[in-house]
Amino acid sequence: MTAKLIDGKVLAQSIRDKLRQEIASLPAVPQLDIVLVGNDDASEIYVRNKIKAADNIGLKTNLHRLPEEVEQRDLLSLIDNLNADPQVNGIIVQLPLPEHLDMHQIINRINPIKDVDGFHPVNTGMLQNDEKPYFIAATPLGVMRLIQTVCPDLSGKNVVIIGASLIVGRPLATLLLNKECTVTITHIHTKNIKELTQKADIVVAACGVANLVQEQWIKDGAILIDVGINRCEGKICGDIDFDSVKEKAAAITPVPGGVGPMTIAMLLHNTLEAYLLQHK
Ligand code: GUN
Repeated sequence: MTAKLIDGKVLAQSIRDKLRQEIASLPAVPQLDIVLVGNDDASEIYVRNKIKAADNIGLKTNLHRLPEEVEQRDLLSLIDNLNADPQVNGIIVQLPLPEHLDMHQIINRINPIKDVDGFHPVNTGMLQNDEKPYFIAATPLGVMRLIQTVCPDLSGKNVVIIGASLIVGRPLATLLLNKECTVTITHIHTKNIKELTQKADIVVAACGVANLVQEQWIKDGAILIDVGINRCEGKICGDIDFDSVKEKAAAITPVPGGVGPMTIAMLLHNTLEAYLLQHK
């Protein structure tokens, strides 16, 4: 079997085209405010890509750059101002933050109806309760869309997620559980992850270990979703060894061109939703 390629670039493009049309028909331009603290190289690239994608579909962005040494209270005060500004529809604080800052207190300060990252406990709590949150985190939302292109009925599927992060693993597990999957979340302390992935209908790798998942890790016909973005030998590679698994899996997302473009498309989707929610 040669795995079908799940093309995130094409799907994201079609989502962005629809968003562009919807935005053009609005009486005002939705606005996303992005807070970037310090000079983390990866964050710089992610933020640049978000701004470019937003510009391209007619969303307004404002970038708030703060120095590495910014104090917690100054960041909280910026969030307060953005919460109070009716022009601001969506707020994201790019993660990771420098160690001296309390990430939870900062995220918890964002008004949940402007929390287009879906990280606020009101939004994650609603998701846990299988109640429709205002926003769902962009990467898990993008992963769900990608899985559903090859597996529209998820009921009863065995899914193993490698990585228990707040941004991907945990919310994704909840989304899949809410679709009646049997979900196993594995992490750095899990013993023998391979034994678990070998039984999985769907494996999602989101651990940041280059080429961790090999052919012997998966069963015949598995669906593989690769959230990893790693640098290896001068190029970008995922957490799944694509060449090793491609003859055994039923479907797989490439890196780059799989989950990455969908994450950005879903953030733009959430920003439009924020505008609509605030103009009801
Ligand atoms: N850092 C890595 N991914 C994300 C994301 O989706 N949102 C934010 N705010 N920071 C991130």
